[in-house]
Amino acid sequence: MIVTQSVTVRVPAKINLQLAVGPLRPDGYHDLVTVFHAISLFDEVSVAVADAAPGLEGGDSRADTPFGPPGADSVTVAGEGAGEVPADGDNLALRAVRALRDAIAGRDAIAGRESAAAPAVRVAIAKKIPVAGGMAGGSADAAAALVACGELWGTGLSHAELSEVAAQVGSDVAFALLGGTAVGRGRGEQLTPALVAPASYHWVLAFASGQLSTPLVYNTLDAQREGRTVPAPELSHELMGALRAGDPLRLGQALSNDLQAPALALFPALRKTLAAGREAGALGALVSGSGPTCLFLARDAEHATDLAVQLSGAGVCRTVARAAGPASGATVISAEG
Ligand code: C5P
Repeated sequence: MIVTQSVTVRVPAKINLQLAVGPLRPDGYHDLVTVFHAISLFDEVSVAVADAAPGLEGGDSRADTPFGPPGADSVTVAGEGAGEVPADGDNLALRAVRALRDAIAGRDAIAGRESAAAPAVRVAIAKKIPVAGGMAGGSADAAAALVACGELWGTGLSHAELSEVAAQVGSDVAFALLGGTAVGRGRGEQLTPALVAPASYHWVLAFASGQLSTPLVYNTLDAQREGRTVPAPELSHELMGALRAGDPLRLGQALSNDLQAPALALFPALRKTLAAGREAGALGALVSGSGPTCLFLARDAEHATDLAVQLSGAGVCRTVARAAGPASGATVISAEG
């Protein structure tokens, strides 16, 4: 029985402290070794039972049947880059809702019992994570929708079961559930929490005017590597040593991203952004994931403010933000009955 009518979840952006990309696989993906790090730049995702959401028209009479048809779910998006996010069934959060509903039905069918109610939902996303910015914003929203629906529907799925559903939705979704700092393998969905000193790192993010498509960046990397044998990706010992020591200076020097070269080829203006951050004294400067957001590591909070001011003054990006890491994964922040 549903006792909660709406749930709000806060979910962090991710950066990759290392992103080592192996050869193209037959399924179109690449084997990765990556070190994910969640940072304090958050989207908020609210999920409400479709006919109980106040102020939204078109209540669905099928909403309280066990499996409202997927078409009955809906999504609205507000905030940073909202206009660029699909507000239909392609939306990653809605895909996550459908995947979770299917997983519950599958689990209950195997157990030979009547399935728990998983009514249609209205999803409202408030964005701060840039869209197509290399920070897994869409994956974060999907992870938040999984946690919110899990709570709303009372699915009783374990974290491991939720992670399996997450991996079906996208390569970065499972990490957004977990948060912290973790090593990702496979497509990035096989996660092991990293052994790290309890340190906090201060980052400055430079958001670009423009976006990069993740598949295009991967394809460009493949083209750049044409004719070369690509070795299997390996975890950076320097990076893991820096994280174990909690040493920002060593961490700054150990940051690496195989997608940086193709991202720079597709978006040459990012070279200036990275150079401006280095000149301003960043301990490390890197394209985030598939870009075009650029990351800069600061010595401490004060240095981060200083870097942010210098980067905005240099006119090398659309806007800057500061964030600290590691941050927790998708977390329920309110639930209303
Ligand atoms: O899994 P996700 O939908 O987030 O991936 C987006 C795209 O990024 C994939 O379609 C693929 O082109 C590329 N990708 C990849 N190898 C990975 C992860 C993503 O080639 N390990």
